[in-house]
Amino acid sequence: MKGYIDLTGKTILITGAAGFIGSNLAKQLLITVDDIKVVGIDNMNDYYDVSLKEYRLKELNAYSNFRFIKGNIADKEEVKAIFDNYEPDIVVNLAAQAGVRYSIKNPEAYVESNLVGFFNILECCRHSYDEGKKGVQHFVYASSSSVYGSNKKVPYSTEDKVDNPVSLYAATKKSNELIAHAYSNLYGIPSTGLRFFTVYGPAGRPDMAYFSFTNKMVKGEKIQIFNQGDMYRDFTYIDDIITGVVKVMQKTPELTEDGVPYHVYNIGNNKPESLMYFVETLEKCLISEGIIEKQAEKEFLPMQPGDVYQTYADVDELVRDFGFKPGTSLEKGLRQYAKWYREFYSLINIRQVD
Ligand SMILES: NC(=O)c1ccc[n+]([C@@H]2O[C@H](COP(=O)([O-])OP(=O)(O)OC[C@H]3O[C@@H](n4cnc5c(N)ncnc54)[C@H](O)[C@@H]3O)[C@@H](O)[C@H]2O)c1
Repeated sequence: MKGYIDLTGKTILITGAAGFIGSNLAKQLLITVDDIKVVGIDNMNDYYDVSLKEYRLKELNAYSNFRFIKGNIADKEEVKAIFDNYEPDIVVNLAAQAGVRYSIKNPEAYVESNLVGFFNILECCRHSYDEGKKGVQHFVYASSSSVYGSNKKVPYSTEDKVDNPVSLYAATKKSNELIAHAYSNLYGIPSTGLRFFTVYGPAGRPDMAYFSFTNKMVKGEKIQIFNQGDMYRDFTYIDDIITGVVKVMQKTPELTEDGVPYHVYNIGNNKPESLMYFVETLEKCLISEGIIEKQAEKEFLPMQPGDVYQTYADVDELVRDFGFKPGTSLEKGLRQYAKWYREFYSLINIRQVD
């Protein structure tokens, strides 16, 4: 296959390695690829419960070919030292300040991680070719479905215009795609951006609805349903995301019409689910795992600033170029999540009793 990269024996730098997607990616590579070296960087910030990041890292630290560096990608010298020491073949940039609503409360965090940090990584990719070195063969980075803003046309296609972000988070992600394009054009860095759609699963992010609703339900608190429940999300199970990322990592993008090694893909389930079906399914899975006994009390509220009505991924390009389409049903994925939640929190409770 043209542009194919064999991952065997390669050094992969993953930023945001203690994060939800980063840790799952690192684990999958360490388990499945021979002789691979995975270098992870994460600043372990406390945007959400750090014990989850530590739990994910503990699993990764069991592999002798995993190296973890606690550091900030917004620190130029730190990033440079990592590139100098490890000379990564592939860089997967997942470190970011995520979340749409938090960008109203703490905009600085988005500028620091998503813009300054992203820029530092690209600068190091650029200089990885200095003095005739082989350098970075592929730069893969997380974008987001949020770049589609309030676009009305569905499913969302990477051909659609995405110039109207409705949150700072979305604006930083769209900026990442623009900056990556400029760097691919100027310095020939093969870059692929991935617009992820509402990723969920075991050991996921507690700021996301499936997890924060669960925590509230466990405490017997009511859950807040925005836009009176009239919203749709293309929920994508973590394993599908990881399968997609690993496939993408192994193939550099074809040149655009203008000769730039650059591409952006959607990775989503291609099946939007209504918020109310999502809540019912979550409740069903939590009840069957014995995590809660009854359905939650609900408070129906108007739309939140920065939120969008629906997300829905067109994944034709992913299918065309990689023969892959995410397909895990919401019920199956949430069942896996509920199982993990029960085990994880029962372990924590046992420890607290000890
Ligand atoms: N989970 C989703 O639904 C989703 C959807 C669309 C896009 N994304 C994107 O995918 C990527 C991974 O998301 P996730 O869900 O795993 O989030 P996450 O918050 O679990 O992971 C991101 C990690 O990056 C780290 N980080 C943040 N700023 C950093 C910095 N300056 N230096 C070093 N580390 C830093 C955090 O500590 C965290 O562990 C992010 O870029 C996110 O914007 C996620």
